[in-house]
Amino acid sequence: MEEKVVFITGGSSGIGRAIGVFLKSKGHIVVGTTRYLDQKKSDSAIELVSMDVTNNSSIKSAISTTVEKHGRIDVLINNAGIGITGPVEETPGSEINRVMKTNFSGPVQVIQAVLPYMRQAKKGLIINITSIAGYMGLPYRGVYCASKGALELITEAMRIETKDFGIHITNLAPGDFATNIADGRFHAPVKENSPYREAYKNTLDNINAHVELGSDPIEVGRKVLKIMETSNPRIHYKVGKRSQKMSVFLKHILPDKWYERLLINHYKL
Ligand SMILES: NC(=O)c1ccc[n+]([C@@H]2O[C@H](COP(=O)([O-])OP(=O)(O)OC[C@H]3O[C@@H](n4cnc5c(N)ncnc54)[C@H](OP(=O)(O)O)[C@@H]3O)[C@@H](O)[C@H]2O)c1
Repeated sequence: MEEKVVFITGGSSGIGRAIGVFLKSKGHIVVGTTRYLDQKKSDSAIELVSMDVTNNSSIKSAISTTVEKHGRIDVLINNAGIGITGPVEETPGSEINRVMKTNFSGPVQVIQAVLPYMRQAKKGLIINITSIAGYMGLPYRGVYCASKGALELITEAMRIETKDFGIHITNLAPGDFATNIADGRFHAPVKENSPYREAYKNTLDNINAHVELGSDPIEVGRKVLKIMETSNPRIHYKVGKRSQKMSVFLKHILPDKWYERLLINHYKL
């Protein structure tokens, strides 16, 4: 495979960093982004540029700097994202907006910034890192699920809109991977007098245990490379444990209420 210029949002840690290191080891030119360039540049395994997905001018500047330096962007990996947990009723509107901006409208603006270059080149690949949680409404993770589900759907629309431009857009939904995502996640506090108190607390313990026992993010890097090597990528990909991928399949085939019952049982609610 010829050398590609790959731009990864959120290349400073976790899944983004693992994808970057893996693709670099395969001979590709990799540029990742961070909001904290001064702190993270010196010990980064990949080239980093400054970018905040919630700030459109920083998106445009990071993309144009990369194109000026490397001549093009062949592959965009829209990976930057944050977590959030809490009963929807008790989640502050400001936090809901922050998550939707980081996980949905920000990534869409990154695509808007990169598309003109890809259209001019008449080729390009965009991989949106969504989540298996984006296929279902998980309790106490409703805002996160909605942000990732929204990115999945807009990708479907954009694929059709861009189909004549030689550009491929796809979703890659990971299951649980061992990263620092829980540290940066907004946790609505477990309130003493909340009607959700016990159920939320138990669910939170369950969610955190899953991320800690998550797979090695290098697996996502391997999957990304496979997609890059495919001439006509699929609309949706999943990566992770078999049981997590199976949960999406079950959602498709089971009656809604059976599936809801499975979730209630799984979370012991
Ligand atoms: N870990 C999992 O189990 C899992 C499962 C499914 C999906 N995912 C998705 O995978 C992606 C990566 O998550 P991760 O687990 O690797 O988490 P992570 O280790 O916390 O990494 C998050 C990355 O996103 C960047 N980021 C956060 N907010 C940003 C913003 N406003 N602008 C630009 N960059 C921002 C961070 O960069 P800086 O802080 O350096 O700016 C960091 O590089 C996310 O989209 C997440 O939703 C993760």
